[in-house]
This record gives sequence, C-alpha cells and structure tokens, in this order.
Amino acid sequence: MANIIDGKAISLQIKDEVKAKTARLKEAGIEICLAVIQVGTDPASSVYVGNKKKACEYCGIRSESYELPEETTEDELIGLIERLNSDTAVNGILVQLPLPSHINEDRVIMTIDPSKDVDGFSVNSVGALCIGRKGFRSCTPAGIIELLKRSNIEITGKECVVIGRSNIVGKPMALMMLQENATVTIAHSKTADLKSVAKRADILIVAVGKPKMITSEYVKDGAVVIDVGIHRNENNKLCGDVDYDDVFDKCSYITPVPGGVGPMTIAMLMYNCVVNM
Ligand code: GUN
Repeated sequence: MANIIDGKAISLQIKDEVKAKTARLKEAGIEICLAVIQVGTDPASSVYVGNKKKACEYCGIRSESYELPEETTEDELIGLIERLNSDTAVNGILVQLPLPSHINEDRVIMTIDPSKDVDGFSVNSVGALCIGRKGFRSCTPAGIIELLKRSNIEITGKECVVIGRSNIVGKPMALMMLQENATVTIAHSKTADLKSVAKRADILIVAVGKPKMITSEYVKDGAVVIDVGIHRNENNKLCGDVDYDDVFDKCSYITPVPGGVGPMTIAMLMYNCVVNM
C-alpha cells in the first residue's frame, strides 16, 4: 500500500515560507510584484491564471493582471512585455500558455527579461539548469523535487524514469533529477517497450498527457510514482496519467490527482518571485 504524497499540504508550507519572506521584505519597504498576462479566454487558462492571482494575494505578492483579447497581435504582446521588462516595480512576468496560434510562443518567451522569467522557460533559465548554474527553475519539475525532498524520499543513486519530453516538464525534470544524482532515463511516445523501461524506475515521473495510461504493468514493486497529468474522465471526475487505483498497492509513494503535483506548480511560481530577494 502506498503512502500518499500530500501536495496540497506541502504547497501550503512553501506558500507560507514565501508569505513570511514578503512580510520581511515589506518591513524593509520592498514590495514584490508579478505581472500575469493571458491572451484570449481559454477556460483552463482562466482557471490557472485565477489560481495564480489568488496565490499571489495569499503570499503577499502584488499581482498585475493583463487580460488581452484573442486577436491581440504578436507585436502588441511583445510591446507589453518590453514595457514590463523596463518597469522596475515588476519583479516577475508570466505569460500563460498556450497562446493563440497566430502568436509565436518562442519569440514571446525570449522577449521576457531573463531576470524576470519566473516560469523558468527561457533559453537562459534552461541553459543555466543544464550546466548547474543558478537560475529560475521551471515550476512543475521544481515542485516535484520539493515533493520528493519534503517527503524524505532519497533521490541520490536511484533509477529515475521520466515519461514525457516536453520543454516545460519532461526535459527540465530529467535535468533536475540528474542534478540530484539520480540515474535518469527519458522515455517518450517513440520509446520501444515502454513498460519494461518504466519498470526499471525507483522513481517514475509520468507526464504523458493520456488519462490513466500508466497501469501496474508499468510500475516496479515499491516504486515512487509521480503523476503530472490532469484530465476529466467520462464522469467529469479529475484523473491523472496514472491509473491510481490500479497502481496504488504496488508503489511505496504516490501523488494523487487532484492534490499532488498540481498545487506545487503555483507554489513554486510564488517561490520564484522571491527567490532572488
Ligand atoms: N500553461 C500550462 N502550464 C503553464 C505554466 O506553468 N506556466 C505558464 N505560463 N503557462 C502554462
């Protein structure tokens, strides 16, 4: 039977640490401000952006909200980011993804001043991670490292398999586990015999984007299973990439959906807003 990793509780700990830091900064006359930009009205993005703004309020971070219409041009968005780059009152800039298809995401991300890239998506931030330099860490994988550490799960020397190779989760996740001295494999949709690769893992991190794809056949006895996915099933209930009920008895630790990785992404965004202060 697995221990359930409580992402809600751990994310609250982190947000409370951030809140304590912003309170100390406020006493010294320093206010932290995050600019949050959303283009269009994608409902999932609106929920995420709303949760980010709520977290800012909880943590004592001022949020500046920019809700731009779907038809905003790339140049208009770039112009706003350039203005926020030079606004010394703004510490962090977050552009919610995905952007409408007429806007080049890469160009937008690369416009954000690296010193304000609290999402950790820029080439500077990812490059710094790759060579072990200080820099903003992408929030979801950084949150997973915190979940493991604060649950006292040893990483050094462990076999870690990351399933998924996105720029936001899979790749930075693998780099962070490598930095924590795990032996790391990145598996993906073209991996041959995914089941046997996944079964090597002491720590299995799943970011495939397919509801309940990972069953007990992919999991070694006693493995730690981290589920990054979030979907609505046929009954409108939330579920992850992992078939939770099927793997539960096989693993030593597991993250639930909801209440596992999800809340950590926002907590680490808050952390990134104050990390250099
Ligand atoms: N879209 C999905 N996840 C994220 C995230 O962590 N940051 C931003 N900016 N957009 C996202």
